[in-house]
Amino acid sequence: MARAPLKRLLVTGASGFLGWNICRQATDTYNVTGVCMTNPIGIDSVDEAHGDLTNDDFRTGLFSAHAPDAVIHTAAAADPNFCQNHPDESAAINVTATVALARQCAAAGIPFLFTSTDLVFDGIRPPYGENDPVNPLNLYGRQKAATEREILTVYPGAIVCRMPLMFGDAPMHAKSFIHPMINALRAGKELRLFTDEYRTPASASDAAAGLLLLLDKETTGIFHLGGPQRLSRYDMGRILAAALKLRPAITPCRQSDIPLSAPRAADVSLDSAYAAAQGYRPHPMEEELEKLDCIRNITM
Ligand SMILES: NC(=O)c1ccc[n+]([C@@H]2O[C@H](COP(=O)([O-])OP(=O)(O)OC[C@H]3O[C@@H](n4cnc5c(N)ncnc54)[C@H](OP(=O)(O)O)[C@@H]3O)[C@@H](O)[C@H]2O)c1
Repeated sequence: MARAPLKRLLVTGASGFLGWNICRQATDTYNVTGVCMTNPIGIDSVDEAHGDLTNDDFRTGLFSAHAPDAVIHTAAAADPNFCQNHPDESAAINVTATVALARQCAAAGIPFLFTSTDLVFDGIRPPYGENDPVNPLNLYGRQKAATEREILTVYPGAIVCRMPLMFGDAPMHAKSFIHPMINALRAGKELRLFTDEYRTPASASDAAAGLLLLLDKETTGIFHLGGPQRLSRYDMGRILAAALKLRPAITPCRQSDIPLSAPRAADVSLDSAYAAAQGYRPHPMEEELEKLDCIRNITM
């Protein structure tokens, strides 16, 4: 008997850190087209569509050219400090284009999965469940919170996933937060890391598996995809140094010691019980680091 053709999945932000990790896994079950703007994706089995999602013609043309059966939207201005300093430019992709894409999916009657952030919370009363009130401290978080609301208004059947801080291998032009730390640790440079900023980190590989699982289960609404441990930035540095088998040159410090453009939340740990009930099973950081090429020095 002939196999049914694979469904067509459009992944935006496919040249970025998370989108690329999603593409790597999704090709097992989907025909994947990755959308990117400036940089290549570089995965043989993934078709590339290059353009700016804030351009209406490009965005609508994607649907006629690729007729997707589902969209995972990770494209974003994802750096909180960049958003704080470039409010209009970041809002164009984080809010306007994202809501427009959700409308397109609603009109086409196909699933739309949006990656939001743990930074929609203020960090005062963790761990945060899906129904806890949002109160972002910086513009990036405010853009994401407003976009979540708007998406679920224009498309109540959409999936909104609040992502934790993520780590993992990355394509050539992207990185996760561990990449500069790895470079510094390998160069023997001193790292200063917060002891008073907590997150529930997950590997991009586990996070991607969680996103594809929620899409596959035809869920709707808001889900948290936090990792299994509550760790400070300082804890994460020590775990990373151990994985690299290096003596950690890490100086503990506090958020107030380092001025940054975007205000930072103290503890945005996520309670991810809803996703767990769907089968989401993220692994501890120590275990996930061992699997990474960037730790084994295969690529950097
Ligand atoms: N990384 C984390 O730890 C983390 C934590 C919480 C939430 N998130 C969320 O997860 C998602 C992915 O984050 P990330 O770290 O993977 O981001 P990233 O590495 O900075 O990648 C951003 C991607 O968006 C694309 N992009 C940006 N503006 C675009 C535009 N106008 N048109 C088309 N494509 C555009 C970029 O394309 P080019 O590179 O080709 O220009 C790139 O592929 C974001 O929604 C972010 O808010 C990430």
